[in-house]
Amino acid sequence: MKQLKMALALMLATGVACAADDMSRAAVGLIKSDFKSKGPATVERVTDRDEIQQACSAEKPLPPAKAKKLEAAQLKSVKYPADGQYMGDWKAGEKIAQNGRGMQSSDKSGSENGGNCYACHQISKEEISFGNIGPSLYQYGKLRGNSEEVVKYTWAKLFNAQAYNACSRMPRFGHNGVLTEQQMKDVMALLLDPQSPVNK
Ligand code: HEC
Repeated sequence: MKQLKMALALMLATGVACAADDMSRAAVGLIKSDFKSKGPATVERVTDRDEIQQACSAEKPLPPAKAKKLEAAQLKSVKYPADGQYMGDWKAGEKIAQNGRGMQSSDKSGSENGGNCYACHQISKEEISFGNIGPSLYQYGKLRGNSEEVVKYTWAKLFNAQAYNACSRMPRFGHNGVLTEQQMKDVMALLLDPQSPVNK
């Protein structure tokens, strides 16, 4: 246990350092052997980092050319709705935006998660409690309209925020299966539907 604590402290001190680093590898080994997956809180969520996560931990800031290359690869993996329908129900979207629950060990595998958007964004004018890590999305659709370009950009941003900002701190909702396709459509409507309170 002492060894594990030391390894974790080291990982934190080095910003969950580069995978090439021996100590970091040792720490990952210890986490794999000592931590148990429970429900959707899997050990792999901590230990198995993809190329872009590793790059963002290793180099700060990422060289612009490298960031562009990684973003392009993320954008390629975005899945757009098969039925071509991007808009769901903004009322359901508002509930998803307000809901910060999910992906914890106490949740059942496969249960629906919240989007927790208000933790980082202002969205509606009525909500007084919101975070400001991300920009305000109030009047998002009113200001941008809903051209095909805006709709596709918004979908891709929600699906995989790192497609436009390599080391974005916004969760990759579609890419990581945090939200279902239907939930993403509902959140899209919250942002873009002219009837949504966001655009009033
Ligand atoms: C942990 C914080 C965090 C959460 C949670 C989060 N976002 Fe973000 N979001 C950001 C940050 C930071 C940015 C701006 C930097 C960037 O693009 O990565 C951003 C950018 C965006 C943008 C692009 C804005 C623009 O001007 O183009 C949209 C749209 C967006 N978020 C929607 C959402 C929605 C909808 C949710 C919930 C389903 C959500 N975000 C949840 C942090 C977050």
